[in-house]
Amino acid sequence: GAIYADGAYGRLPRVPVEPDLLAAKAEKHLTPEAWWYVAGSAGQQRTAKANTAAFDRYPIVPRMLRDVKNRSLGVELFGHSYSSPLLFAPIGVLEMAHPQAERAVGRAAKALNIPMVLSTQGSTPMEVTSAELGESPMWYQLYWSNNDEFARSLVQRAEKCGAHAIVVTLDTHCMGWRVKDLDLGFLPFARGMGIAQYTSDPVFTDLVNDRIKNKVASALPKQSPTLGAIWTLASIIGHYPGRLVDKLFSGQPRAAVDTFLDTFPCPSLTWADIAKLRAWTTLPIVLKGIQHPADALLALEHGVDGISVSNHGGRQVDGAIASLDALDAIARVVKGKVPIIFDSGIRSGADVFKALALGADAVMVGRPWLFGLAIDGADGAKAVMERILAELDFTMSLSGVSSVKAIGRECVVVPKEPV
Ligand code: FNR
Repeated sequence: GAIYADGAYGRLPRVPVEPDLLAAKAEKHLTPEAWWYVAGSAGQQRTAKANTAAFDRYPIVPRMLRDVKNRSLGVELFGHSYSSPLLFAPIGVLEMAHPQAERAVGRAAKALNIPMVLSTQGSTPMEVTSAELGESPMWYQLYWSNNDEFARSLVQRAEKCGAHAIVVTLDTHCMGWRVKDLDLGFLPFARGMGIAQYTSDPVFTDLVNDRIKNKVASALPKQSPTLGAIWTLASIIGHYPGRLVDKLFSGQPRAAVDTFLDTFPCPSLTWADIAKLRAWTTLPIVLKGIQHPADALLALEHGVDGISVSNHGGRQVDGAIASLDALDAIARVVKGKVPIIFDSGIRSGADVFKALALGADAVMVGRPWLFGLAIDGADGAKAVMERILAELDFTMSLSGVSSVKAIGRECVVVPKEPV
């Protein structure tokens, strides 16, 4: 109501409501590198396009005369009550979109009391974002490093910050084939962006310092045999070289970036590793990036608490199944045994409604709020999510359902055979 009233009284929105206009305006606020990093997907963008197009194949069939005066958008997940089924999807390198990055998104999330999923690829240490969020709910997204001690450290920090869940992203053990980034020669991490979660971590800092020490130890003797000998001697005697190196080089950006590039990928991860994570934390574990029903069943077998059906916004495998089609097939086998969190392609409240109808318990929104952030900081991110919520509420009302739980398969037309 308030959103319509603003327009009617001439207060036109700074952040466009219409999704294509929203994206077009965001583009104007970003450098070409940032725009393509954010808006671009893998390869020929087939999956990114399929993600949004899939929503056309599941039309809503509204019902009438059902007393929808009192409506509730609240959901319960992992023992927590949330005011709506929306979450801020984890998005890395937010400093590209806005200098206040996670702090701005944290303010928006707090104002709406919507859970924010913090990215491992963040621009702000998680402790800072968590302080910004206060009591407002936070989840933590983990990129599982090839160094278990470091991965564990991130999980334990998240636990200390009061995260409600750990979301392990499985679909990104290497970058997708992002053609625009390749043409522009742009990899934000190589420029030292999006690694704040790493450089604020004690285990990672040790890895950086070890790297510097090893480098000095191998380079010094070549420069000067005398200094090399002193260095070796000092290393044998005690702590002196370490402290000297810390003083001279600690926090040195190049070494941090190189250490990040070395520790980031863990392509050898298997289902057996899930037990390790279970031993590290008592928090609910959600696996992000599940697209095959067989993987959903394996997730159940391995005792995970939630499944995130996602193809990373089409940024990983070009030509992969549209996320909404994957959701339809996965919900048929999961049968409500664990919550399903859906993302990839949500642009509106009506889209949220369809995902909930197909079996999602909650939905993560990615690029839309990021565009809002680029245009108008915290207010922009908030405006976008607020409108998606408002449209969801309108759609529920006009479709004859009063609560999120009541949005079932009967609310949409589902193709007989899963895609
Ligand atoms: C992402 N996504 C993502 N996912 C994740 O688990 N960790 C991350 O650090 C990031 N980073 C990231 C950066 C950017 C610029 C984008 C656009 C996306 C994926 C994100 O969580 C989500 O799966 C998709 O954004 C959902 O698709 P839509 O809503 O953007 O279509």
